[in-house]
Amino acid sequence: MIDGKVLEYSNELKRLGINHEILEHPELVSVEDVQKYLGFGLDEALATLIMKTEKGFVALIKRGDSSLESKKVKKALGIESLRMATDEEFKKLTGVVPGAAHILHKVERTLIDERVFEKTKINGGSGSLLYTFRYEVQDLKKIPNSQVADITKISITTTSTSIGVKRVFSGIRATGRLHLGNYLGAVKGFLELEKTGEYETIYCVVDVHSITTPYDKNVLAKNKREIIIDYLAAGLDPKKSIIIYQSSVPEHIELAFYFSTVVNVARMLHLPTYKDKIKQHPHFVTMALLNYPVLMAADILIYKASLVPVGIDQEPHLEVTREIARKMNQIYGTDFPEPVRFATKGEYIPSLTGEGKMSKTVAGSFINLTDSLEEIRKKIRSVPTATTAGGEMSSGVKTLFTFAELFISKEVDKYKKAFEDGSLKFVELKDAIADAIYQELKPFQERRAKIAADTKYVDEVIRDGAERARKIARETVKEVKEKMGLT
Ligand code: TRP
Repeated sequence: MIDGKVLEYSNELKRLGINHEILEHPELVSVEDVQKYLGFGLDEALATLIMKTEKGFVALIKRGDSSLESKKVKKALGIESLRMATDEEFKKLTGVVPGAAHILHKVERTLIDERVFEKTKINGGSGSLLYTFRYEVQDLKKIPNSQVADITKISITTTSTSIGVKRVFSGIRATGRLHLGNYLGAVKGFLELEKTGEYETIYCVVDVHSITTPYDKNVLAKNKREIIIDYLAAGLDPKKSIIIYQSSVPEHIELAFYFSTVVNVARMLHLPTYKDKIKQHPHFVTMALLNYPVLMAADILIYKASLVPVGIDQEPHLEVTREIARKMNQIYGTDFPEPVRFATKGEYIPSLTGEGKMSKTVAGSFINLTDSLEEIRKKIRSVPTATTAGGEMSSGVKTLFTFAELFISKEVDKYKKAFEDGSLKFVELKDAIADAIYQELKPFQERRAKIAADTKYVDEVIRDGAERARKIARETVKEVKEKMGLT
């Protein structure tokens, strides 16, 4: 039975046209625990803060992974004084217990941080600690007296402490040239973080990880350079970011060995990624493969990076990384951060087959970054769009609309309406998407051709990156050796 107050609140939302689902859970203390229980990250959590200003109370709605910038709030509201409401004030105004604020309170104004709108659905309070509401993000604009504003910066809260993010590290395996999924899911996130200017960003081609599964040495040597060129063509600036091959900084491997002294074999044997790989390559079950996550932890922690833009499939590896950081800090008194994942907007790019994720290893699933308009059109036209009996979206149609949201977001509503009233011509939607994808890729392709031709420049980027990275890496290894009694 849902509590009367929660139902009443749900009805109020319905009256306002704010769509939501109701999720049930045990009474958990922190938003983070609730999200974990429900299977979401902090980036998909809403926090409503009630604050007092000289003009009365306001509500500020932000994502769980961003932190408020009071300067921005003051500017957006045109006010000078701003403080959190006390527990007393909070209870009196909202009528709910602290920690359970929902999104409709009797305040002068509600500001919604613009980063909230990067998601399509997001979880927030319901007035009860036993229920979480999952809101349609676009509907939040219907909150009375509300406005969207830029009031936060991206920041990360880990379980124990709040740490200011300084370094970002990420890596891509050199198993093949990048495709559209990598570009949207990873590289665009790399760029976004580089552009903020708030972090030191280090982006790596993890060639040593690529040799943990069967590979061809000639192909590897070629591919790894292609990825560096892809990074540069996508707009990464080697003056701002450090761009490296993992193997150019051998300290990663050294640190991985030191780390392996605090890692249990059984823990590694049970990782889903390891199990998948040994199924794929039953004759290649090697120590290197088992060590994969330890090397990944070394990649990140050697730079003491606290933010890692990678796909959700890498979460188990990040968990291992945090465990290693904790153990090293406990046993040897190091100061490794516990890094968290940075989720990008396009992190899940569906396969063109309508099933699963876009992947290099599934034929017909991906668009190459170097595809021509013709090729892209052909591939997008091949997305299956057979309609289902109940008029629901088939997975192929959903895939198309995901691409539509990413590439022609302004026209999505128009196409959705047409879909609903049965007048949609799929070819039109498909070609509009294909054209937009090509428009995004064209400048990339032009830049790529120029960069690829400039061998000297690419060599220099690789050399310079290695030099800058090694400086940091050597320091960390030196510190670890000292603390472990090796010097
Ligand atoms: N395991 C990552 C993947 O398959 C690649 C990787 C290796 C990585 N080291 C890393 C990603 C360090 C981020 C940070 O996608």
